[in-house]
Amino acid sequence: MLVSAKDMLNKAKAGKYAVGQFNINNLEWTKAILQTAQELNSPVILGVSEGAGKYMCGYKTVVGMVNGMLEELNITVPVALHLDHGSYEGAKKCIEAGFSSVMFDGSHYPIEENIAKTKELVETCNELGLSLEAEVGAIGGEEDGVVGSGEVADPKECKMIADLGVTMLAAGIGNIHGKYPANWAGLSFDTLAEIQELTGTMPLVLHGGTGIPADMIKKAISLGVSKINVNTECQLAFAEATRKYIEAGKDLEGKGFDPRKLLADGTAAIKATVKEKMELFGSVGKA
Ligand code: 13P
Repeated sequence: MLVSAKDMLNKAKAGKYAVGQFNINNLEWTKAILQTAQELNSPVILGVSEGAGKYMCGYKTVVGMVNGMLEELNITVPVALHLDHGSYEGAKKCIEAGFSSVMFDGSHYPIEENIAKTKELVETCNELGLSLEAEVGAIGGEEDGVVGSGEVADPKECKMIADLGVTMLAAGIGNIHGKYPANWAGLSFDTLAEIQELTGTMPLVLHGGTGIPADMIKKAISLGVSKINVNTECQLAFAEATRKYIEAGKDLEGKGFDPRKLLADGTAAIKATVKEKMELFGSVGKA
């Protein structure tokens, strides 16, 4: 059964580790992430962007697929199904469809509007026992059409949103979706420390997990980050393994064109990436 991300993140915050949110794109992605979490006895959050939701034929299809897998693959570790960077309408749709967690990204609104919309969703999510992620300070880069300019959040605004009763809070601290440019200035740990100081026990979320060096990830966790989002890195690993398979001509050998064979190396590469991240984040054995 899907669970809210609340307990797993509160435990992570108290235990000084982070739970990975891995974004899903299709059946192979979902299966690879769930199997790895089960093998490593780790809690996990499946992230679905609005674009990926559309690609997978809508939120109801996603809920059906994930619930089916939990049962058929005998997944017993805590799994949350979470809308990533949701609009207000998207969040409502996911709640109706059976997601156990949603993110409302109001970071592009003036703070008053972000507060008003987040507040409404806090009430709905509390009533239904779902977890809610809010965001202050847009995350840089582009993800599925959601473009952010890489702001550094105002810690006081973070405190205002945290006080609304959200489950977890994403704050821009110089992080970017996708690959980091060579001249990237790194994460703003001073800002993170200030946010953590003001928000106390609130689990903080680090978006743009792809390409952040291991030492920065560890430092971010030590400063209160309890959820780390990874998307692009799984995509790159999948694409590279699939390219190698085709470049080696394996699709032309025997039944190598069978999609179950064609996509097997890519799927294994996602599993390896997820394992590496869970080990780095410290969530192994914490289910
Ligand atoms: P990356 O694609 O950079 O890993 O970011 C993922 C993310 O933050 C999802 O919201």
